[in-house]
Parts: sequence; structure tokens; C-alpha cells
Amino acid sequence: MKRIFILTGAGISAESGVPTFRDAGGLWEGHDVMEVASPEGFRRSPGLVHRFYNQRRADIQLRIPNAAHQAIAELQARYPEQVTLVTQNVDDLHERGGSPSVIHMHGELLRVRCSYCSYRCGWSDALSAETICPACRRSSGMRPDIVWFGEMPFFVEVIEEKLQQADAFVAIGTSGLVYPAAGLVSIAKSLGIRTIELNLQKTEASHLFDEVIPGPASQTVPRWCRSCGIATEETP
Ligand code: OAD
Repeated sequence: MKRIFILTGAGISAESGVPTFRDAGGLWEGHDVMEVASPEGFRRSPGLVHRFYNQRRADIQLRIPNAAHQAIAELQARYPEQVTLVTQNVDDLHERGGSPSVIHMHGELLRVRCSYCSYRCGWSDALSAETICPACRRSSGMRPDIVWFGEMPFFVEVIEEKLQQADAFVAIGTSGLVYPAAGLVSIAKSLGIRTIELNLQKTEASHLFDEVIPGPASQTVPRWCRSCGIATEETP
């Protein structure tokens, strides 16, 4: 039985209408990332940061999962012990697509945390500097529970452990430019794990993969999930 480690990025949610970061019309276009996605930016202009994430939080609640999210969910439901799903995405489309377990290494848009007491909870409404922490009752500390530039991604140890146990590493819809996620393919290769990239087009990391499958995720992912050979001795 094969163990598959899946890493997803913004490309898997693109066909659900969630903008990617670096494609034309992407989220970072027109934004200074350090203003809206760093602890320094938040200290400087909390209102700007809250407006940026409030808009994204409202927007993702209008989006629906696509066939790629659903195909991964079905694979996980069928082989819960063998499929690890790690996402860089902060949306909840994997969960709403039916995924029973999702490791959000860059956090979640529908969760918030308090900068003072680290209290965390689910949150679907707008945040502001006036929002009071339900735990410590202080204002101005509540922020999206999202990893910003300069911060450590979540679950790094679990991710490395799961990767070490894998037989195949599959990167879906990610440009492979943001570390440490971008470094996982090299770790996989050094461990002798087969590496597969599914992306709309070639990326700067494509040369690191054993197999590159081009095309939109809603088509390539269901096809790949059907033929990945997880239950056989065949190499995925
Ligand atoms: P990017 O915007 O960097 O890359 C999106 C990738 O998806 C590109 O390689 C596209 O070619 C591909 N793509 C677009 N549409 C697709 C489709 N329909 N099917 C398949 N692939 C498609 O997004 P990420 O790689 O996810 O981090 O970005 C990584 C991190 O950079 C994000 O998590 C975010 C950002 O800064 C933080 O905010 C911490």
C-alpha cells in the first residue's frame, strides 16, 4: 500500500474563483505584501490589514469547492491512513469538499487569534482593532490566524514526519516559490520519494519533479487520483 503526501497551493482553488497570489490579476498584484501580510505591517496599519483579510474572509465564504478538492477528499476518505493532505491555502475549500483531515501550514482565514494571550477560535465575520478577545478581553490584538512573512509556518515537524513516511510527493497548483513549502520537493527527492507536479503550466520548480502533469486542477487531479495506484504495488 502506497502512502501519498499531497501539498496544495492557490492553483487548486483558482477554478473555484479564489485568486492565486502570483498569476496575472493575482492577490499580491497591487499590494505591498509587507504592508498586508507581515507583523510589522499589522503594527503600522492594523486597519488596512483588517480590511484586506475581511474582504478575503467574506469572499471565500461565497466560493464552492471544485472537482479537484472533491477528488482528494474521496481519496482521503477511502485511504485515511495513507493520504496526508497539507495545504498552503488559507481557504476552507478542502474541508467543504469533504476532506476529513487538512494540515493548514499557512493558517486559516476563518480562524483568528489574540496577539496578547494566543487564544484561537473560529471566526467568519469582520475583524477590527476594536474587536475584543473573548478570552483576555483586550482590544486591538485580534488578528487572522494566518502565517505572515517572517513568521514560522504551522505544523512543520508533523509535515516533515509525514513526508518521511511517504512513497509519493504530489504538489498541486503551487508555484514552489515560498519556503519552507517550496523545499519539500527537494527533501522528498533526497529521501528517494517519487515526486509529481500538477500545475496549469510549468513552474520554476518543474525540473525538480520526476513527473509533470500540466492542465487545470479540476481535470488533472480527479484523473490522477483515479490512476495513482495507491492500493496496488504499482508506482503512483
Ligand atoms: P501562487 O500564486 O504563487 O501560485 C499558484 C500556482 O497555481 C501557479 O503555479 C499557477 O500556475 C497555478 N495554477 C493557477 N491556476 C491553476 C489551475 N486552474 N490548476 C492548476 N494550477 C493552477 O500560489 P502558492 O504557490 O499557493 O503564503 O503560493 C504560496 C504562498 O505564497 C501562499 O500560501 C501565500 C503566498 O505568499 C502566505 O501568505 C504565507
